[in-house]
Amino acid sequence: MKICRYLPSLRAACAALRASGRRLGLVPTMGALHDGHLSLLTAARTTGADAVVASIFVNPLQFNANDDLARYPRDEDGDLAKLSAAGCDLVWLPPVEAMYPPGNASVIDVAGPSKGFEGDARPGHFRGVATVCAKLFLQTSADIAAFGEKDWQQLQVVSRMARDLDIPIHIEAVPTMREADGLAMSSRNRFLRAEERATAPILYQVMQEVARDISAGGAVPAILAAGQARLVAAGFAPDYLALVVAESMEPIATPDLAAPMRLLAAAKLGSVRLLDNMPVPA
Ligand code: PAF
Repeated sequence: MKICRYLPSLRAACAALRASGRRLGLVPTMGALHDGHLSLLTAARTTGADAVVASIFVNPLQFNANDDLARYPRDEDGDLAKLSAAGCDLVWLPPVEAMYPPGNASVIDVAGPSKGFEGDARPGHFRGVATVCAKLFLQTSADIAAFGEKDWQQLQVVSRMARDLDIPIHIEAVPTMREADGLAMSSRNRFLRAEERATAPILYQVMQEVARDISAGGAVPAILAAGQARLVAAGFAPDYLALVVAESMEPIATPDLAAPMRLLAAAKLGSVRLLDNMPVPA
């Protein structure tokens, strides 16, 4: 497994992997890898990538005052061991100044799916995500990029950005990996205290009940309000529980069961903000 830390060596390594019409898959990450990330490598290959490059870059541009950049978990040695064992071909590990050299002054703002939800909770977050993903796509010239459905809004923002900027890359959406009790895998789960970890799967349970009630034809606002109340009773501080049009992220009050919809949730448990989503009907 090759490791590149600067752009010229990355470009040369990617070009070599793409030689003779071979297709290159990209798995963008911020490190602290878990099985969900490793499933993205598998998905990139299954979708047709002959070789896979994983990036590990804790992107300062997508953190704001509410997020703690310094607190984001880092484990370079552990991550490299996991990527190597998973058969990754190349790792892109740029220092901040290689990604954002002095004088750097361009960002990408995606309207549409960036609005609301995480866009409200974390102002500037999707600007940072869209900017770094566009750079990663252009730096690697990857044919396929695999993103987890866990960050549903991010997946919509990145897909919209690639389409709008005519970047020739296929975005592969990969279903969320869950722990045995249903908790969506996340690098931030390691910050849950033991009693919070025991409560955390209730988020997924409540969402499954809410999705079932909506599919059964109940009134959406009342079902969502009851779901929020159940979360509060379990000890969560919910930020939102919402039903949206799956691609545009527009909130839905009256569901059309024939159109793709997504149930989204963000809720704090202690100091950890948990995110989850699922299709409706489930
Ligand atoms: O989901 C993440 O880990 C990050 O937002 C991403 C896509 C790697 C961009 O920094």
